[in-house]
Amino acid sequence: MKFFVDTADTAAISELHDLGMVDGVTTNPSLIHKSGRDIKDVIAEIAGMVPGPVSAETVATDAKGMIAEGLELKKLGENIAIKVPLTWEGLKACKTLSDDGHMVNVTLCFSANQALLAAKAGASFISPFVGRLDDINIDGMELIADIRAIYDNYDFKTEILAASIRTANHMTEAAKIGADVATAPPDVIRKMAAHPLTDKGLKAFLDDWAKTGQKIL
Ligand code: E4P
Repeated sequence: MKFFVDTADTAAISELHDLGMVDGVTTNPSLIHKSGRDIKDVIAEIAGMVPGPVSAETVATDAKGMIAEGLELKKLGENIAIKVPLTWEGLKACKTLSDDGHMVNVTLCFSANQALLAAKAGASFISPFVGRLDDINIDGMELIADIRAIYDNYDFKTEILAASIRTANHMTEAAKIGADVATAPPDVIRKMAAHPLTDKGLKAFLDDWAKTGQKIL
């Protein structure tokens, strides 16, 4: 499973990238707002740091506007994936941009039917929002599994990008189901390394080592 980092925080991206944990980056208007930076500056910087796809989201609500904004964002790097919402207008923009050879990430997906339409419209990525479904007491992972089954039935090439990932457990579940990609905030990726038995075991080893009075270096 590829790891995308869901942030516009370049310091966090850089730290994870150095560890080989970043196959791509996703952003959205809220994350750009959180960064406090100009969208073009921050997206260009990220696209220069990471070779993989960097999703930059359009904000127009009509297809023509999304296409124009998408092409403007695409100027910031060859690896930009143009992010459009899963509306009828978004699907039109997806079809046009995909036919012209651009990577398109269709976002705000909350149903299997929406994912089916995005694949038909040629999306490179579909972003089902797991956490936001969990928030309203609907199992977000069930949606990932449904989309996996549907895409596999027809050999759709659209990659399933599990989004709105909130916990380390979401990462495990997405990987078990076979999501192609999961995009997670930096903290969630860091938490994947944590285990209380690792901490307990390390402490015991270090305590015993201290008793030996030895040094390795
Ligand atoms: C995906 O591309 C979105 O940026 C993101 O995953 C949304 O996550 P949230 O629901 O935690 O805001």
